[in-house]
Amino acid sequence: MRQLPVKVLLREVAARFRTSELASDSPQIDSELIVGHVTGLDRVGLRTKDDTVPTEAQAAEIEELVLRRLTGEPIAYLLGTAWFYGREFEVDSRVLVPRPETELLVELALSHLAQRAAEDHHVGAPAVVDTCTGSGCVGISIAASSPTTDVTCTDISEDALEVARANAARLAPSVTLASGDLLHPAEAHAPFAVVTANPPYVEGADADGLEQRVIDHEPHVALFVPDGGVAAIYSSIAQQAAQLLEPGGLLAVEHGSGQRHQVIDAFERAGLAHVYGVDDLAGIDRVVIGYRPTQGG
Ligand SMILES: C[S@@+](CC[C@H](N)C(=O)[O-])C[C@H]1O[C@@H](n2cnc3c(N)ncnc32)[C@H](O)[C@@H]1O
Repeated sequence: MRQLPVKVLLREVAARFRTSELASDSPQIDSELIVGHVTGLDRVGLRTKDDTVPTEAQAAEIEELVLRRLTGEPIAYLLGTAWFYGREFEVDSRVLVPRPETELLVELALSHLAQRAAEDHHVGAPAVVDTCTGSGCVGISIAASSPTTDVTCTDISEDALEVARANAARLAPSVTLASGDLLHPAEAHAPFAVVTANPPYVEGADADGLEQRVIDHEPHVALFVPDGGVAAIYSSIAQQAAQLLEPGGLLAVEHGSGQRHQVIDAFERAGLAHVYGVDDLAGIDRVVIGYRPTQGG
């Protein structure tokens, strides 16, 4: 990238993104994010100081990021951060980029914890486990919003847990990180008031429905459901949760569009009660919740 004033650079980068199928749905914004990230100028600075000429090193870094974006790499990986539930999380190619629709899990968990706090028969702080935690966005958001809650985040990927660990250290240091399969690594913290999970839920046959840039760049362990398919992974989560939740405790899971019936079925077979699906803000079937029955049902 030549050393051009910011105002020219912004136009050139956006124009390159416009010509690429893989790069960007928002060429102008991505151009501002990359140029701003490297030069240290915020959106106002990019306009009021648009005669600024990046140094040679900055121009080289901008060119490198533009080339990566042209391959379809998510902007969050290029900047190293993504916003989720009002907080900035570190992300890189070891974890899924947090999606705004996943914030629904946090809202459901916090609302259950608030309701539980109003009941007078609970003794001690509530415990929560977020499995398939990736960047830790769900569990860490719950812990940061509800600091007296004992939150454990689990993931089978050590690489993902390293990212979650860095996020927890900055945003919610009380969170416990544990490596292993689904809820098993968190058993010592049971019984749980809430279990959340956003597991991998794309079946191999449905890979065609994913954008190529997602398949090329985001970790496959986060996207693709293992052997056994959707029914098996949601059954395992529901069965483990049915054992580890306190009576009246909440299980909330995200799932793929069109999977609601399979997930409800897994919950009901595990003996969970009051099971139903919740749509996201776009009206897409997104989450299923259920409760461990209390003694009276
Ligand atoms: C769809 S990503 C969700 C990440 C994060 N919770 C979010 O919503 O952005 C799924 C995560 O589940 C993890 N995972 C896959 N199989 C698992 C298993 N059997 N036990 C625990 N974690 C698993 C992957 O490593 C990945 O980080």
